Amino acid sequence: MESAPILDYNDVKLTRRKITDMISQTLRDARRYEETMERKIGREEKPDFHLSTRVGWMNDPNGFSYYKGEYHLFYQYHPYDSHWGPMHWGHAVSKDLLHWEYLPAALAPDMDYDRDGCFSGSAVVLPDGRHLLMYTGVAKETQPDGSARDIQTQCIAVGDGIDYEKYPGNPVLTRDDLPEGGSKFDFRDPKLWQKSDGSYRCVVGNCTEEGDGRILLFSSPDGVRWKYEKILAANEKRFGKMWECPDFFMLDGKAVLITSPQDMLPYGFEYHNGNGTLCLIGSYDEEMETFTEEHNQSIDYGIDFYAPQTILAPDGRRIMIGWMQNWDTCNLHTPDQPWLGQMTLPRELSVKNGRLYQQPIRELEALRGEEVRHENVTFSDEISLAGIEGRKVDMELTVWPADAEKLYQRFAVRFAQNDVYRTSISFRPYESIVKVDRKFSGSRRAIIHQRRCLVPNKDGNIKMRIILDRFSVEVFVNDGEYVLTATMYTDLSADRISFFADGEVTMDVVKYELK
Ligand code: FRU
Repeated sequence: MESAPILDYNDVKLTRRKITDMISQTLRDARRYEETMERKIGREEKPDFHLSTRVGWMNDPNGFSYYKGEYHLFYQYHPYDSHWGPMHWGHAVSKDLLHWEYLPAALAPDMDYDRDGCFSGSAVVLPDGRHLLMYTGVAKETQPDGSARDIQTQCIAVGDGIDYEKYPGNPVLTRDDLPEGGSKFDFRDPKLWQKSDGSYRCVVGNCTEEGDGRILLFSSPDGVRWKYEKILAANEKRFGKMWECPDFFMLDGKAVLITSPQDMLPYGFEYHNGNGTLCLIGSYDEEMETFTEEHNQSIDYGIDFYAPQTILAPDGRRIMIGWMQNWDTCNLHTPDQPWLGQMTLPRELSVKNGRLYQQPIRELEALRGEEVRHENVTFSDEISLAGIEGRKVDMELTVWPADAEKLYQRFAVRFAQNDVYRTSISFRPYESIVKVDRKFSGSRRAIIHQRRCLVPNKDGNIKMRIILDRFSVEVFVNDGEYVLTATMYTDLSADRISFFADGEVTMDVVKYELK
């Protein structure tokens, strides 16, 4: 690639005044709209410590980064409707990844090259202290057959953590940078990072013209001038079709590539989500920039999880946040619902025995209120326990057969429960299956309400950490070896929790109300 005129970019003076003068009417409108409309949504109508959309619609997490002493999280955003539409970037900041403060929308589809949407992307901090966003610009183009199709290019914007100016030399990667046979219609979601030598790399989702996903690697000396390097990983028709939202990082001595493939076929107990998530773990030859796969798995085994993105936190933790929805079911609500879209809890990642493990970020412990503990509770029916209820809960269960010689049939914990509603997590030791079931959560739609996960275990011992935040449940099984996530839009008055056993079970439970 020829050198781009880098001076354009270095000459942009980042004073608030100058930037503000340059904010488009489209972005100004979005900012005014979100500020007014957010007041119409009561705090109780939204999750508490999970980031949800300010108004309207949210999908993928974008630009997850640490800048000027705070975590920044942007997101795919359509403020004007609780359904997907022309994509903006919403913006929020947090010091602990749990208390979020909204900032004004950061990007709007206001340039020729992104007039049909500012799609997903990522962020880094430049050596001069500015914040660089890299995102996908979408612009429809009439095709020879008369149809209009989205053309996708990669673009950048530079800012101060509030206002961002799109680079005058955008787009920085176009169809001309694609390898042979790459689709210009499916070329999106750049995730960039800085290497120790100061140069930059980014991975971008793409597919062949036949629709087979692959992840492309690009390099840049400065975050502005980008050059195609290679195909980092290719689907070879194994996991779904187009591969969206890639991320690539080293963790515990392994190379981890995560991506969200569209249109996946289930395989055993893996990949049941249609548009699902894939984690490839392997090795990386730093010099040759070659990734060798060794293991594949779903990232989450529940119903609502997609497009996760990670950050390397200042203290060295690799933290991941995903969109807590499923593309097949996120459009069934009525237009009068003022918001749709929340993120998962941020999760600390590790690789153990070649598998990806996830644990809720440790900051969550600071939200714990009163502790309620019950030990060695043996039961063989439905029970409730004093002090165990609520919809904002952090609860750890350890379960084993009351009689080591006699395995129980089934254990379940039910929550968001009243006489009408309940959602449950159950475990069947004979089959080694953990299941989330929200059939009775209040949904009036005939959609998928259950999902199962195979947890290798034959002795009936299981550990679960269950996090509830009003409209969601996240279950971390056996210290994060398997995770199941689901939303449940059950009336908040359903706040009972009960335990059920078919056969005799003994259980320790410790529960905290989350403040
Ligand atoms: C994934 C995705 C991305 C795209 C964005 C558009 O959920 O389809 O590939 O950038 O959503 O909103």
